Amino acid sequence: MIILPGPASQGLANRLANTLRTRLIPVFHKKFPDGENYIRIEGNVQDEEVVLVQTTSPPQDERIMQLFLMADAARSQGAKTIVAAIPYFAYSRQDKAFLQGEAFSAKTVVDLLSKCGVSRIVTVNCHNPRALRSLNMPIYDASAIPVLAEYFRNQDCEGAVSLSMGKKGSSTAEEADSILKGGYDYIMTQRNPHTGEVTVERKPLNVKNRHVIIFDDIISSGRTMAQTVSHVKKEGAEKIYAACVHPLLSTEVRKRIIESGATEVVGTDSVPSFVSAVSVAPVIGRALRREEA
Ligand code: R5P
Repeated sequence: MIILPGPASQGLANRLANTLRTRLIPVFHKKFPDGENYIRIEGNVQDEEVVLVQTTSPPQDERIMQLFLMADAARSQGAKTIVAAIPYFAYSRQDKAFLQGEAFSAKTVVDLLSKCGVSRIVTVNCHNPRALRSLNMPIYDASAIPVLAEYFRNQDCEGAVSLSMGKKGSSTAEEADSILKGGYDYIMTQRNPHTGEVTVERKPLNVKNRHVIIFDDIISSGRTMAQTVSHVKKEGAEKIYAACVHPLLSTEVRKRIIESGATEVVGTDSVPSFVSAVSVAPVIGRALRREEA
C-alpha cells in the first residue's frame, strides 16, 4: 500500500504512513496564476494499491478538484486500486434530491471519483451517514470518538461524564463512555433555519461538581457548543471540555466557547486547525486494514 498525501492533508498522510508503516510518495501541487490547480505524483504507482489522503473541508470545491486530479493521475499511471481517505466528506449533507431539479451532490462527488478510478472511500464521522448508503461505491464511515475519548482519559479525565447532542447524541456519548466510564447523557439542540440561532434543551443533568466532556461531530459557528457549555455550567459541572471530530472553527469561535465556560476546545486533524490535538490516523489506518481483510 502506498500513501499519496493531498495538499489539504499532508500532516495526516505522514501520520497515516507511520501508523501503517507504509511508503509515502509525495504529490507536488501548485496553483497557476489564474487559480487552477496543478498536481504531479512524484513517483511510480503502477500496479500499486494507492491510498489518497485528502480532506475536503472548506475550501471544499478546490480540495475536491485536487482529489479528482490526484485520483486520475494515479489511474493514468496504472495504479492497481485507488482508495480515497476523505476524513471530512464535503457535500455529504445533500443525501437526495429534495426538490425537483435539485442536484444530489453527494452522488455527484462519488460518481466523479469513480470516473477518476477510485473504488473505495474511507471517511470519518460523516455528518449524514444515511447519505452514503445509496451511493454506488463502498464507503466506510469510521468513528473518531474513541480516539478523542482516549485523549481525555490520558489527560486525567477518566471518570468524566460524556455528553453529546442531537439525534445521534446518545450513541456518540455511549461510545465515549465506553472509554471514560463516568456515565453519559445527551441533550437535544435545535437551530432556527432563518436566524441560525441555536436553542439547547434545558434538560436537568447529573453533572454537579463533575468533569464533563461534550462531544460533537462538527464545531463551525460554535453556537451549538457554546449554548451547550453554558447549560452544563449552569447545571453545576466543575470543568467542561468541548470536543469535536471536525474543527471548522476560527480563533474567535474558540474564544466564545471558552467564555461560555469551557476549559478547552479539542478537535482532530481530520481538518487541520489550531485545536487539532488528536490524530485520526489510527482510525483511518484501522479502517484500511479492515477493508483489506
Ligand atoms: C449538527 O447537526 C452538528 O452535529 C453540529 O452540532 C453542528 O454542525 C455544529 O454547528 P455550529 O458550530 O455552527 O453550531
